This record gives sequence, C-alpha cells and structure tokens, in this order.
Amino acid sequence: MKKVTVVGAGKYGSMTALRVAEYNLASEVVMTDIVEGLPQGLALDINQSRFVEKFDTKVSGTNDYKETAESDVVVITAGLPRKPGMSRMDLLEVNAGIVTDVTKQILEHSEDPIIIVVTNPLDQMTTLTAEVSKLSKGRVIGQAGILDSSRFAYFISEKLNVKMSDVYALTLGSHGETMVPVPSLCTVSGEPLVDILSEKDIDELVKKTSEGGAEIVGLLKTGSAYFAPASSAATMVKSIISDSNEVFPVCAWLEGEYGINDVYLGVPAKLGKEGVTEIVEYDLTTSELDALREASKAVKDKVSELNSINSQ
Ligand code: LAC
Repeated sequence: MKKVTVVGAGKYGSMTALRVAEYNLASEVVMTDIVEGLPQGLALDINQSRFVEKFDTKVSGTNDYKETAESDVVVITAGLPRKPGMSRMDLLEVNAGIVTDVTKQILEHSEDPIIIVVTNPLDQMTTLTAEVSKLSKGRVIGQAGILDSSRFAYFISEKLNVKMSDVYALTLGSHGETMVPVPSLCTVSGEPLVDILSEKDIDELVKKTSEGGAEIVGLLKTGSAYFAPASSAATMVKSIISDSNEVFPVCAWLEGEYGINDVYLGVPAKLGKEGVTEIVEYDLTTSELDALREASKAVKDKVSELNSINSQ
C-alpha cells in the first residue's frame, strides 16, 4: 500500500488529501503545513468521516517533514494563491522560494518520490521542482490540463445543455495565457465539437476556459478555486498509485515530442507507478500545433526569467 503526502493544508491541499483518502487506495495520506494545529485538526476531522464514508486510508496531519518519510507520491500545493486581478505569473518570485524550500525538505525524507506540483505559475513551478529535486523528469509532473479540460467540458455542456458524461474535452499547453484548447479532438456524444458549434462559439468557450480560474478568484475575493483543482490532482495520484497508465493532459517534460524540446508543457501522457511512462502524440491541426509551440516558447521565456531572478 502506498503513502501519499500533501504539502499545504489550505483548501486545495486538504481537499486533495480528502479525495485521495476516499479513493481508499493508499495506506496513509500525510498532510503537512507550517501552521501549527491546522493539518492535525483537519486530519482528525477527515479521520472521523472514515466510518461513514467507509475508507481505510489513514490521514495524518503534521508540521514536521519527518512524518512524510518514504512517501511514494507527494503533491505540492504550498504557495500563495492569486488575489483578484492578479495573473498566475505575479506569483512567480514568492512561490519559487516556497517551492524550492518544500522540495528540499521532501527529498530529505523520501528518496525517489513522484512529485505532483500544483503551485502557480504551474509550468515554471514544475520546472523548478524538477531542477531542485534532481529526480528523473518523468517523476515530476504538473497538474493543470485535467482541470482546464474539465472547465472546458463544463462550459461545453452548459452551452449545449447536454450531460457532462456525453462531453469529451481536451486542453494542452500552459496553465495560463498560452493554454491550448484542442477543439479538433473534443466531442459531444462522439460527434466532433467543430461540427456542432461555430468557430465563434468555440472561441467564446475557449476564452471562458482560459479565464475560468480568474473568474472564481474574482468571485471568492480571497483564495482561489479548489474543488475542481483537487479532483484533478487526486485523479493523477490515483492513476499513479493504481498504476493504471491512463492518459491525461498533464504538465510533462518534452524531449522532441510534438517537435518540442527541453520544456515542461501540458501534453497527453500516460501516468503509472513510475510517473509519466509515455507522452502520447495525438494528431493535432496545424494551428493547434503552432499554438502548442508558441506555448512552449512562452514557458521557456518565463523559466529564463525565473533563473535570472534566482541567480541574482
Ligand atoms: C486555477 C488555479 C488553481 O486555475 O490555478 O483555479
């Protein structure tokens, strides 16, 4: 049985811990946070739901990384969320410090974990975690594409007034302005979306999707989305600990796939017990491929910016 650690007991972290525990696939989920009492209190509360919800996975809360020892999978949610009007990129410097520190502490107690990063700006924080941890690239993965695809699917289902289970949606690229929705592969009851909606309608849904997180930040006023983000991160944990090798859009390291090299970017990938086991190359249209390549350039530029901040 596997051990999973969730770093950060905020709403995103605690909801991820709850969802993973409810899958009943891990022996233990450890939640760690710097705030004393917070992870312990939340863990107690979750444990007291186990009898009702019928899951055996034990949840622990701690302020001490020692208790994360020998984790198989670690989800890093630590970092500041956006405030209304902020872009994810505004968090670059402050969250880089937090993610670097967390990664070092995790690696002191777990030798070869798989790390899932959800802290924003996502693509850069995933790159940073891979660099700091020196783990093989397939063991460091970012969560964004499942969330963005799920948001896109929701907006499609609302627009067409169809059941969610009839919709298949996919977004690739970065978790931000260069998100790449892939209408050519989206379907409703098996029918291509491009045959159902006009280009203008699809563009509107794409815009809503890329602004989906900001809309929630604006409404909440403090904090950002966490129900759908936690579902997305927990789904990745599930695929890894059950070694299902399902294909999900995730932020993964590219070495020539889609003609793109040396960058973490949202692409379809198989997730199993070794992390990313294969990048899957779908047939994209020329404009979708161009958009993916543009996204890779934008991510690389921001990674260089981050490296120059860090070397100052
Ligand atoms: C969002 C944050 C979690 O998109 O990135 O809601």
